[in-house]
Amino acid sequence: MNRPLSKTSPLAVLLFLVGMTLWLGCKKDDKKGPECNISGVTFAYSANIKGIIDRHCISCHAPGSGVSGADVFDFTNYEAMKPHLDAGHVLERVVIKKDMPQGGAMTQAERDSVNCWIQAGYPKN
Ligand code: HEC
Repeated sequence: MNRPLSKTSPLAVLLFLVGMTLWLGCKKDDKKGPECNISGVTFAYSANIKGIIDRHCISCHAPGSGVSGADVFDFTNYEAMKPHLDAGHVLERVVIKKDMPQGGAMTQAERDSVNCWIQAGYPKN
């Protein structure tokens, strides 16, 4: 009646892993964001993105901003922001969900710039 665990679990584990891989693969595709719609501009953090971030994000996203939950995500410089770019979170919140900046007005053109920068691999310079 009870099948020995040693016989059933490797297959179950394998199926689970295959399932997770497919699921995560699909999820990742969903999070690629739209294609860049601005041509003729070379986007770089220092040249055209830092100004947007400073204007719209660091009132909350800076250590000591006093905005609980946002102060732990430091967007005051490229190095601190990079892990959130790597994780796809900036793309997700600013371009796809558009729930950041929280309660703030950001133009679609600014969102497009952030998207193009990320699609280009978010270069620093
Ligand atoms: C009014 C305050 C406020 C402003 C302005 C704001 N945020 Fe946020 N943000 C938050 C808070 C609070 C959280 C944590 C809760 C959450 O995830 O919603 C957060 C979380 C995030 C996260 C998730 C971090 C992670 O890696 O898990 C990202 C990405 C983000 N914000 C991006 C931005 C960007 C980019 C801007 C500017 C365009 C911005 N936010 C402006 C308050 C703000």
